[in-house]
Amino acid sequence: MRLTFITTSIVAFVAIQALAFFFLYSRQNVAIYPSNEQDSKVHILILSSWRSGSSFVGQVFSQHPDVFYLMEPAWHVWVQMNRNSAKVLKMAVRDLVRSTFLCDMSAFDAYMSEDRLVSHLFQWEVSRALCSPPMCNHYARTDLSNDLMCKKHCNMTKFFKMEEACKTYSHVVIKEVRFFELKSLFPLFTDPLLNLKIIHLVRDPRAVLKSREKSLYALVRDNGIVLGTEGKQLEKEKAEASNYEVMKEICKSHILIHELANEEAPNLLKQRYMMVRYEDVVRDPLKEISAMYKFAGLNLTPKLESWVYNITHGEGTGSAFKITSRNARSISEAWRTEMPYEKISKIQKICGKAMDMLGYEQVQSEYEQKLLSRDLLLPQRKYKFSWLSSDEDAT
Ligand SMILES: *[C@@H]1O[C@H](CO)[C@@H](O)[C@H](O)[C@H]1NC(C)=O
Ligand SMILES: *[C@@H]1O[C@H](CO)[C@@H](O)[C@H](O)[C@H]1NC(C)=O
Repeated sequence: MRLTFITTSIVAFVAIQALAFFFLYSRQNVAIYPSNEQDSKVHILILSSWRSGSSFVGQVFSQHPDVFYLMEPAWHVWVQMNRNSAKVLKMAVRDLVRSTFLCDMSAFDAYMSEDRLVSHLFQWEVSRALCSPPMCNHYARTDLSNDLMCKKHCNMTKFFKMEEACKTYSHVVIKEVRFFELKSLFPLFTDPLLNLKIIHLVRDPRAVLKSREKSLYALVRDNGIVLGTEGKQLEKEKAEASNYEVMKEICKSHILIHELANEEAPNLLKQRYMMVRYEDVVRDPLKEISAMYKFAGLNLTPKLESWVYNITHGEGTGSAFKITSRNARSISEAWRTEMPYEKISKIQKICGKAMDMLGYEQVQSEYEQKLLSRDLLLPQRKYKFSWLSSDEDAT
């Protein structure tokens, strides 16, 4: 009887010890976890150009509850120093983007007033993170935010609260249209504080040209900076001419970035570069968005999936992207029926090499241009990366 009691006590004692050990050990793991988490933060740069669907793709990231999103922080650099060229400004832009990734918002001191509010930030209201705690209580972090409501209810938040907010997210995502090459970003890939991945979003230059023509004057300042001409071309003819000049720079940058990522620096960019064509997103949004999320290490939640379905099928409530998928496809092909062939021919001469590389087939006549049954979107050319797993290679 007594022996049994002792045995039982010993067994119980050992069991308690084991439990305590396990508990302490797991506690210790919990205790060191935050710094690990800090190390495993993901920084995504959506690198695109004007009128290429980057606001839409940015929104897809912004609405994810794990993402702190900012749209075009470099706008402030360009506006503040608008007498300089893109080439001169690119390092300032890079350093602002790096600081922002690290949640160091003091980098904005150079471009904004001391006692600033979040609403002084360019297009702040499209960031769900700036419309929910700890920035603002109007939305919960898991809500889908609406920019108009956010603007109304969250515009008085102090700018400095962004640092604290930014630090509570596992992913920081920045959308930029003001990079024309990748080389200046190389130091960020080897930066021990960063875990940088780039989504390079491109669009058919013929569609971009058409979209840019509609907003010729809104783009004058940016054009001047791209071309280094101080935005002086104001007459219609000159504005049109500069539009082609800018398109030339944009297409050149597609080639530079794509070639560098795929041929010159595949090791540095191993699994850190992904090229996405806007047309593929329009045709199969869920497939492309799932691929981008996977690349970024984000889960596509059922709520987000439903939201993406709704906004691409015209059922978004108060969303900025009221396009049906049929609509989106016809909008993305509007250049085929609405642009004169001379302009198409001209842009094809300027951007032909980029178009061949990205899989946009050129048309040789007005007839071909207007023959909508002829699909001009070729399958994306696959580079044979040695580091791609067979699984990824197959998709
Ligand atoms: C914030 O929004 C309110 C309501 O729309 C408006 O009256 C106010 O002027 C805004 N304040 C700032 C600083 O933008
Ligand atoms: C999508 O639309 C349906 C039907 O209007 C609605 O019931 C659902 O809540 C919407 N989903 C989201 C995430 O907004």
